[in-house]
Amino acid sequence: MTDEAGEGRRVAVLISGRGSNMTALADAVAEGRVPGARIVLVLSDKPQAAGLAAAKERGIETAVVERRGRSREEHEREMISELHARQVELICLAGYMRLLSPCFVEEFRGRVLNIHPSLLPAFPGLDAQRQAVEHGARVSGCTVHFVDETLDGGPIVTQRTVPVLDTDTPDTLAARILFEEHRAYPEALALVCSGAYEIVGRRVVKSSKQ
Ligand code: GRF
Repeated sequence: MTDEAGEGRRVAVLISGRGSNMTALADAVAEGRVPGARIVLVLSDKPQAAGLAAAKERGIETAVVERRGRSREEHEREMISELHARQVELICLAGYMRLLSPCFVEEFRGRVLNIHPSLLPAFPGLDAQRQAVEHGARVSGCTVHFVDETLDGGPIVTQRTVPVLDTDTPDTLAARILFEEHRAYPEALALVCSGAYEIVGRRVVKSSKQ
């Protein structure tokens, strides 16, 4: 599926920090592994986010919209106007460390993806890798899902698994999961950009629909 200029869906990536999933997406798009996508904006709520420099190095436009003591809705309204100003069609949350309010979700319903470092619905919320180690899970992984009003609870697009080793700490498990995150997110974005799926209840079902 492509836009009027034939160059792909206009994607924004929202970050707050390191941005390794953002660079994985950007590099996959640049290498032609995500047909039908182009990243038109990397938007951060933190001016010091390391991912901003990585985006600029790749020639991607960046913007920062800080919260600055405003209400969540006021902050998000400014973000929404930055996104609309670039005609953004799809949004990838990639280490964006704030919960989105229902007004943001409603504005982009079915068009916001998130990546989470566990096999949802296990271990939602913060510190998912530590939760997995402390719970004694033998398998963990990552999940790319659509964002709805629930915490890490929207329809699942893709998951990838990793073993949890007896010797794992939260950090060693996080590194193993991150490796898979960098594969899962481009795969999920490619599916969503292809339009070849339907959301049936909670399920994302592959279809031939374009
Ligand atoms: C990743 O583990 C992602 O799953 C979680 O936050 C982390 C962001 O890392 N939502 P990065 O900024 O993409 O490197």
